[in-house]
Amino acid sequence: MRILHVAFEIFPLVKTGGLADVLGSLPPALAKRGLDVRVLLPGLPGVLDGIVGLQTVTRIGPVFGAASVTLCVGRLPDSHLPAYVIDAPFLFRRKGNPYVGPDGQDWDDNHRRFGLLGWAAAHLAAGELDPEWIPEVVHAHDWHAGLTPAYIMQNPSLSVPTVFTIHNLAFRGIFPMEYHNELDLPMRRLNPRGVEFHGNISFMKAGMVYSNRITTVSPSYAREICTPEFGCGLDGVMRDRAVDLSGILNGVDYAVWNPDDTEIAKPYSIDDLAGKKACKLDLQLEFSLSTQARGPLFAVVSRLTSQKGMDLLLAVLPELLQEGAQLVVLGTGEGELEDGFRYAASTNPDNIAVYIGYDESMSHRFMAGADILLVPSRFEPCGLTQLYALRYGTLPLVRRVGGLADTVVDVNDENLAADSATGFVFDEATRHALSSRIREACAFYCNDEAGWTKVQRNAMRQDFSWDDSAANYEQLYRSL
Ligand code: ADP
Ligand code: GLC
Repeated sequence: MRILHVAFEIFPLVKTGGLADVLGSLPPALAKRGLDVRVLLPGLPGVLDGIVGLQTVTRIGPVFGAASVTLCVGRLPDSHLPAYVIDAPFLFRRKGNPYVGPDGQDWDDNHRRFGLLGWAAAHLAAGELDPEWIPEVVHAHDWHAGLTPAYIMQNPSLSVPTVFTIHNLAFRGIFPMEYHNELDLPMRRLNPRGVEFHGNISFMKAGMVYSNRITTVSPSYAREICTPEFGCGLDGVMRDRAVDLSGILNGVDYAVWNPDDTEIAKPYSIDDLAGKKACKLDLQLEFSLSTQARGPLFAVVSRLTSQKGMDLLLAVLPELLQEGAQLVVLGTGEGELEDGFRYAASTNPDNIAVYIGYDESMSHRFMAGADILLVPSRFEPCGLTQLYALRYGTLPLVRRVGGLADTVVDVNDENLAADSATGFVFDEATRHALSSRIREACAFYCNDEAGWTKVQRNAMRQDFSWDDSAANYEQLYRSL
């Protein structure tokens, strides 16, 4: 069965978040099941540099405001899966973040950059770009690829089924209505039953309305986005399509995320946790933190945004310090939050350290060196860092929401007795709820070493590999 995945980022070539991790690991997991999987990517510098053996498939010519567009094909560096690349130098050969310019603002031609991705997917599906390989299912990811199902629907001779996966409904891909001509979207699509969203065009809505099936990245988030609280104004559309919506949990590539990876100070395993202590010491020394703290070392590896509850965390730092705990933060994001963490580190250099930036290797050292990973999100479609933390025996402290609720089993009496607890869960997105769970986690760490080690082992034993999730996607494709 031939499956085309369409996305804007992919690990290890271009990554700003979990979407890239999913694209780097789901297609290979499907290929392992015997499916004939290819990906379609924009020709960003990281993609052009990283794809192996890139060759021209066809010259498309001038479209979407680019003078020259060429479809190429090569292979992904690790999995060796075939990858189509849209080489449109004018639109894609830009350094830095794939979505925003050096001024931090969205590129003003983003509608064309993401429109071209969906347009190329639809023409590939029609067999017009590569007659040698025509997909039987097209799987588009997030709003970036949201126009894919719309363009496929627009071609009356095309009946290829589409799956659209929502990775984060908060980013709806909204553009002014007057761009519809440049995007080649016909008038009859520009109404509330189509791509129109409060007088604008929403690429996310296009994906939701025109795909045959919609998935999101955890069962809880699939339920949540049908409610006004989490639906970002699209919950009505979501409810209309509820029978076609399902939640399939993301998996982890344990070849990359495992406490014997090459980035960490000393490898360790579920049977021998000694290396974890060395990793903690190494992390404390790297950031000149005191090695005498009585409480646990908390870590954050995250976008620093209000989605991720980082404002709540900043507010409870005094309580965290009072418990004798420490904190290391790796992240980038909203300026005020970056400043807040920088200030906290500068006034508590022995116990708080912050690295504002993006560093893949450092993220592994955080996972291995910390005792607790904090993910106090207001909403979380799936979340991957808590899954990585589990494998490193670093207990996640999370809010009971979305994929966090589906993957972390709370340390409480019942779960401890059943030997199923893997982390700390709190309910309300409030300063009070977060600080009391932090205090309780600190008490558990300080007073019950044997209990702590037991929970670490439960955590490390969890299996969130792609096997089950890939099987679910395969079943979905076959049902189409
Ligand atoms: P989201 O996609 O919403 O940001 P996820 O938890 O799904 O959240 O995925 C985040 C991914 O990005 C993880 O692989 C995490 O390790 C990585 N990450 C986030 N911030 C940084 C950073 N500053 N440096 C390195 N990796 C980061
Ligand atoms: C999004 C979500 C995150 C999810 C990731 C991969 O970025 O915010 O929760 O894990 O996509 O699906």
